[in-house]
Amino acid sequence: MKKIILFCYILLGSCGIINAQDINFNADWKFHNQEAEGAEKPTYNDSSWRNLSLPHDWAIEGPFDVKYNARAGGLPFHGTGWYRKHFTMEANAKGKVVTLEFEGAMYDAYVWVNGTLVGNRPYGYIGFEFDISEHLKYDGSDNTIAVRLRPQDLSSRWYPGAGLYRSVWLKIDNPIHVGQWGTYITTPTVTKEIAVVQNETTVVNKNNKEVTVNVKQEYVSPEGKVVATVNEDITIKPNATAISQLYTNIENPQRWDTENPNLYKTITTITENNTVVDTHHSKIGLRSIAYTKEGFFLNGKKVRFNGVCLHHDNGALGSAVYKRADERKLQIMKSMGVNAIRTSHNPPSREFLEACDELGLLVQDEAFDVWKMEKVPNGYNVFFDEWAETDLKDMIRRDRNHPSIVMWSIGNEIIEQKDAKNGWKVAKQLNTYCKEIDPTRPTSAGFNNYPGPYKNNMAQQVDIAGVNYKPSSYKTLIDTYPELPLYGSETSSCTSSRGVYHLPIEKYKTHESLHVTSYDIIGPPWAYPPDIEFHFQEENPNIMGEFIWTGFDYLGEPTPYGGKDNSTNGYWNADWPSHSSYFGAVDLAGFPKDRFFLYQSHWTTKPMVHLLPHWNWQGMEGKDIPVYCYTNCDEAELFVNGKSMGRKVKGKDLTSLLIDFSRYEPKTFDSKYRLSWNVPYQAGNIKVVGYKDGKVVQEEQIFTASKPSKISLSVDRTEINADGEDLAYVTVRIEDKNGNLCPNADNLVNFSVKGAGKLLAVDNGNQISLESFQANQRKAFSGMCLAILKSSKTSGKITLTAKSKGLKSGKILTISK
Ligand code: GAL
Repeated sequence: MKKIILFCYILLGSCGIINAQDINFNADWKFHNQEAEGAEKPTYNDSSWRNLSLPHDWAIEGPFDVKYNARAGGLPFHGTGWYRKHFTMEANAKGKVVTLEFEGAMYDAYVWVNGTLVGNRPYGYIGFEFDISEHLKYDGSDNTIAVRLRPQDLSSRWYPGAGLYRSVWLKIDNPIHVGQWGTYITTPTVTKEIAVVQNETTVVNKNNKEVTVNVKQEYVSPEGKVVATVNEDITIKPNATAISQLYTNIENPQRWDTENPNLYKTITTITENNTVVDTHHSKIGLRSIAYTKEGFFLNGKKVRFNGVCLHHDNGALGSAVYKRADERKLQIMKSMGVNAIRTSHNPPSREFLEACDELGLLVQDEAFDVWKMEKVPNGYNVFFDEWAETDLKDMIRRDRNHPSIVMWSIGNEIIEQKDAKNGWKVAKQLNTYCKEIDPTRPTSAGFNNYPGPYKNNMAQQVDIAGVNYKPSSYKTLIDTYPELPLYGSETSSCTSSRGVYHLPIEKYKTHESLHVTSYDIIGPPWAYPPDIEFHFQEENPNIMGEFIWTGFDYLGEPTPYGGKDNSTNGYWNADWPSHSSYFGAVDLAGFPKDRFFLYQSHWTTKPMVHLLPHWNWQGMEGKDIPVYCYTNCDEAELFVNGKSMGRKVKGKDLTSLLIDFSRYEPKTFDSKYRLSWNVPYQAGNIKVVGYKDGKVVQEEQIFTASKPSKISLSVDRTEINADGEDLAYVTVRIEDKNGNLCPNADNLVNFSVKGAGKLLAVDNGNQISLESFQANQRKAFSGMCLAILKSSKTSGKITLTAKSKGLKSGKILTISK
């Protein structure tokens, strides 16, 4: 059998690529949102162009319009956009190596420096850099960078964003320096007692003479103590690179895991003739990973993936990268019980991976959604032959030191699964590229075309098979291919709109409201409620776990509205204004939907109870309302206006769910994962009490709200950094006079901000709202909306005031320092 089923690799990850000599180049760009003939020339007059700072996503500025494709968010992402930047170089930079780095540019970037084309990079999700030393002027006169981007219509199955949406850097190095993504740090052994660290550093010599340099690696503990130092001399030929390979031992390592994501620091110092010529800082994490057919092991302990797929946009911020936006998203996921992320279906930002390292999340880093065979007419398939090898290898070179990354994915639902003759060959080639750059991690892919890719030998080309939406086939797969470890790379695809409940409960395809009920049973034909996946995962304990589609709602792909299936190529505007996804356990604004709590009840152990629906059913007095409780307690008891409706036992009392899922015969599923009661509606309150070992451990209560009376504000952090990048997320609730959420309120809320920050964006999670994310007002949706504040570079107070006609205003403060 060709398949190697055991991987036992240990990684020390470097999750920092920013070094002292890197100049952040995000400020002071000029932008023009259409073709501009001659704009690459230094003499071009850009004085009328807009001034802005990066990160910038031009498409998120809107407006939403039915003339754009709802599948890509209904936003104007395609077309040509130009960016220009002027700067001067000091004379002492002459003779150094000056590199211009883009962490990502959406899409098909062409870059000119002082009128000379220095390079092109089509794939918008990959970072790239050009040595621009010889194109610069060092006499204090103007240097110009010009960047042309051309995102294409019908090029993406989701919202890709548009623009210089990640950071840009100018790096000024001595001729001898650490190369791009120049440290590759692994350890052949990590135990409780010792970590053996291998550090491979690529050193570049741009001199015309051979040099001998000293390479020193220092390791600094999480407490800031130097715990190991090693060094060696290496000789580098003229205009060449050489690799230093140094081993060291770290005793009693504080290992990196999902509970304690300990990060060490590595300082690489290059010295020539007793002069330091380069230093390179990395944050690192020590851990071992192993995959067997019995599952995934982290530091020798079996861990199942309680995973989520996430697209790269951050809702109202679009694709523009803010570290805090990623961090918040991941913190919300962690609080749901998530321990793993699939970066569907492209390389994520550096900040995203840094946050995963810091929070202790396991990551599957995915390269592609498409190879040569198209899903949409202008997709990456157009560039695949020319760029796939470079893009895949660069993704791995950039990311291979992150301790969070535990596997590489070479693709999602690749159409070549159907190409029995050639599909497996492409998979084999991509797999080889991965191994060349990082043999320490397994490879994978998300297959949906079962049994095709197994039968035609494509699945066997990767180390671990990911299977999308086939829980009822897990057993057959394990029995038939026992040597190929397995996990659910995409599961469930259940849909819902936060706070929306349609009664009676029906298994409909679409609803006239263009929303989807939050009773968590609706999805497209390939989808099924989370409960079914829970069941089949439990039946097959050696499955490595699942990655639900999706953790958060994202822009575009508004299934079940507008689109048909993955091969739909045209616009998805049949159900306009529906334009963003319903798949998330959390809505686009970051507010948990009920499904969040269903996962939490399954994935966490700290006692919790959650009740649904809301309790405002005026006009339905006396009629039965299904009340669901999601809990990890042993038992739960429901009270309506103080009267017990009975105690139910988790695991024993079942809730019958309507199912319509092609690979599961029965049309109902008796779920042991939800408790439920049918109770005649009467205004007042419902309360659930959770018991563990017979004792009350948790309760939750929902009151019938009276009319909207006030705005209540809460902020995720009362102190943020005055760095011009940090964010504060303010949750806005419309409440009655007693502080109850008004679950149907849609009041328009106006925002004003004073002090050391500004209002960056607003949202409410409503998948059909065409309101601008960048307005200073937002309607509430199901009683809530969101305001995102950004700090300025000066410290001080930031005060947000929220007003709405007829309601008592709200005010909240955060300090920026
Ligand atoms: C999958 C696909 C995802 C998303 C999902 C929606 O087939 O891989 O990208 O489209 O369906 O259910």
